[in-house]
Amino acid sequence: MQDLATLERAITPATRLIWTETPSNPLLNVTDLRAVVGLAKKAGAMVACDNTWATPLFQLPLQLGVDVVMHSVTKYLSGHSDVTVGALIFKDKGPWLEKIGGIQREGGAVPSPFECWLTLRGLQTFLTASARMRKTRNASPNFCPRSQNRRSKPCTIPVCLRIPDTSSPPRKCRASAA
Ligand SMILES: Cc1ncc(COP(=O)(O)O)c(C=O)c1O
Repeated sequence: MQDLATLERAITPATRLIWTETPSNPLLNVTDLRAVVGLAKKAGAMVACDNTWATPLFQLPLQLGVDVVMHSVTKYLSGHSDVTVGALIFKDKGPWLEKIGGIQREGGAVPSPFECWLTLRGLQTFLTASARMRKTRNASPNFCPRSQNRRSKPCTIPVCLRIPDTSSPPRKCRASAA
């Protein structure tokens, strides 16, 4: 996904959706979402982004043109890994939202009330946990998620990072991970 030329070659007239995960698990590879969105639009395809690792606090894929955002709520959002919950956030109402809403309504693909309660409980400490993550990240100022050529090149992909308590615009990582 980081190799945009390969991605472009892989797109065919049948391509309807490009799925991204950035930063990725487990390698923390970063995808240039704006560039992927650009390629997808040319092909008339949608872009989905698994934003689990970044969380909505640090990356806003919808603002980068992505159509659907996915979160494993199991992780940072609920905070305790004691639920199995996912979320899909659509930019627009449309046939995809209709279809998935139908699966939830008619198929019952929804979390239990107890899991919802645990998720809401976990969310209450999400900001505190994120502040701690930010502190850890700041303790290592040269850290940046892996770039595709992390050994040879610095990571220069613009990532829409929102650091809590600042209003920093999107910025570039300047250093490569060691
Ligand atoms: C980025 C990412 N998305 C989705 C999942 C799946 O999450 P869940 O365990 O909530 O099904 C994982 C699990 O490791 C993940 O790392």
